[in-house]
Amino acid sequence: MKRPFGIAIFGVCCLVHAGLGESGRFVIGRVLHDDRPIAGARVRVPGTPHYVATDEKGMFRSLVAKDAKAINVAHPRFRITTVGIAEKRLDIRLEPLPKDYDDYAWIDPSPHGQDAQRCGNCHGDLHAEWARSAHGNSAKNPRFLSLFSGDNGKHKTWNAQAEHPLGVGVCAGCHVPTLASLDLSYDVRKAEGVDAKGVHCDFCHKIVEAPTDKLGTRFGRDGYEFIRPKTGDLLSFGPLDDAVRSGESFGYAPVYRETRYCASCHEGVVFGVHAYGTYSEWLASPAKREGKQCQTCHMPAPKDRTNIAPGKGGVERDASTLTRHDFPGAAPEMLRGCVKLEAASNRTKEGVDVNVELRAENVGHRVPTGFVDRHLVLAIDAANSDGSPARVVAGDVLPSRAGKGFAGNAGYLFGKQHLSDAKAPLPFWVLEGEYHDTRLTPGVTWKQSFRFDGEVSEIRVRVLYRRLWPAVAESRGFEGNEFVIHTRTLR
Ligand code: HEC
Ligand code: HEC
Ligand code: HEC
Ligand code: HEC
Ligand code: HEC
Repeated sequence: MKRPFGIAIFGVCCLVHAGLGESGRFVIGRVLHDDRPIAGARVRVPGTPHYVATDEKGMFRSLVAKDAKAINVAHPRFRITTVGIAEKRLDIRLEPLPKDYDDYAWIDPSPHGQDAQRCGNCHGDLHAEWARSAHGNSAKNPRFLSLFSGDNGKHKTWNAQAEHPLGVGVCAGCHVPTLASLDLSYDVRKAEGVDAKGVHCDFCHKIVEAPTDKLGTRFGRDGYEFIRPKTGDLLSFGPLDDAVRSGESFGYAPVYRETRYCASCHEGVVFGVHAYGTYSEWLASPAKREGKQCQTCHMPAPKDRTNIAPGKGGVERDASTLTRHDFPGAAPEMLRGCVKLEAASNRTKEGVDVNVELRAENVGHRVPTGFVDRHLVLAIDAANSDGSPARVVAGDVLPSRAGKGFAGNAGYLFGKQHLSDAKAPLPFWVLEGEYHDTRLTPGVTWKQSFRFDGEVSEIRVRVLYRRLWPAVAESRGFEGNEFVIHTRTLR
């Protein structure tokens, strides 16, 4: 007598919980492969918020809306399988994932009327976001290509190919990950077709695992495990356990929502130098302790997208289960949101003390992170009442590498600094000189007091962000190398 009563209670609770009122019904089934039960498979109606997992015997019982036509079953070792639910008891057989075929021909992401497989044909919004992202431009980025070959040999320094001829092939592994190079030079300037699309959709969505045990020495594409199917078999991997489209199959891979998915390209010891360290910085960050992954901040939910392939077979989904693909990074609003500045002046008999505090918050790594030459400049200028610059008598002064208009002013550089004997910045691939890492650490406040003497009338405190060292940017004519994050005027 006890059991039916239990089920009745369970049923009513669930119906209410799933928002189905009295209009739901139960589907019962068993999930198998080769007649062996599959435990832990996820079962749900596509696009709905709740799933159930199969038990040790491969059994599940799922509550569905009366008008639901099909359910999807997903498990990381099998293709996502869709089954009609006209029957009340189902035996569902899963098809294992294929092996990896490394002669796979990558599919171009850009929309094209004559090529039905192009990702952008159906995923228009995702494609538009990706196309303006750093990933979508990584193979053609003029700053990258310029430092790769010194503008095709015009510059002898900051020229990775000339300064490190045996080994520039490594750049491709992260920047142009599908480049195939018959002469094995991996010269990124020769990329064409889909390879020239940089870090593209098909590359990212063939990743099935991202081990972290060899990180640092093995990076970019070499750090990943892929499943590239036989040509003609359409198979993409992703975070959804319920994606469905006839003629194509999908693989559910939970790693897409984890930081380690990004690690192989955002951590790297290149030529023996720890040039890229964002993943290891994240391991030590408060964000990791709070459970925030790279995706939490760099792939936020879109504002109003509820369908990933509208009109092309996509089902309506809650926007919070989807992600933006423009990968916002070192944009002014991101930097303003995470670099906090406090500045106050205190007048004394000798002059004026300017007390400055900088702190990085709401960020998953040190600031700046990413490319080694990124840096922040704190610059403080004070003027006397006659307009002449006030003299700084205590506190740090900006060195000449801070650039024209900054060198000699009160201030501080926050960056990874790899310097020659003359204290000029060197590229990361030149293996000499000294290193200092003076970047902000999340959650740790940096403070300094600067003193100016004389009749100081106005004080301006600025924090700027720069991509590259000013001497390098100027010599190559790069526009938009810096922007101001904060300006404060003190009296
Ligand atoms: C003909 C249309 C079409 C084309 C072309 C197409 N897709 Fe899709 N894709 C879909 C549909 C439909 C879905 C499922 C939508 C849903 O369930 O809401 C989907 C789902 C996905 C998913 C989700 C998988 C998961 O389990 O998380 C990924 C990832 C994906 N596509 C990537 C790609 C990539 C990469 C390409 C190009 C190589 C591509 N798609 C080309 C229509 C298309
Ligand atoms: C195949 C290698 C690869 C993978 C995988 C990869 N990235 Fe990147 N990422 C790059 C490269 C290369 C750049 C720099 C491109 C450029 O600036 O030309 C970059 C740039 C970025 C930027 C800087 C954007 C900006 O405009 O400042 C962010 C943020 C970022 N990636 C986040 C991520 C996250 C999050 C993941 C994981 C979900 C990820 N990346 C996975 C290679 C990769
Ligand atoms: C740098 C790797 C990378 C690139 C490039 C990339 N994706 Fe994704 N994609 C991801 C990751 C990681 C997720 C999972 C994010 C999450 O759920 O936190 C994802 C999620 C998705 C999803 C599931 C639904 C959603 O909105 O999250 C679809 C569909 C998808 N990507 C399609 C595409 C298409 C189409 C392109 C090219 C226009 C593309 N992706 C380019 C890494 C990438
Ligand atoms: C808590 C939110 C948060 C998390 C988690 C996070 N980031 Fe960031 N990220 C930011 C903010 C804010 C910025 C802008 C400030 C800066 O440039 O450091 C940024 C900037 C970046 C940049 C651009 C740096 C530059 O100056 O060019 C890259 C690349 C990047 N993040 C990659 C990653 C990767 C990879 C992970 C995971 C290992 C990650 N981030 C985790 C918030 C986050
Ligand atoms: C481990 C993967 C990896 C390798 C190997 C790698 N890069 Fe990068 N590179 C990145 C990532 C990720 C970014 C983006 C970080 C950011 O936005 O701060 C980047 C950014 C850059 C940038 C800055 C671009 C800009 O627009 O400001 C330059 C220049 C660059 N890389 C040059 C090179 C060269 C030259 C090589 C080979 C000697 C190389 N990289 C090797 C991952 C890599």
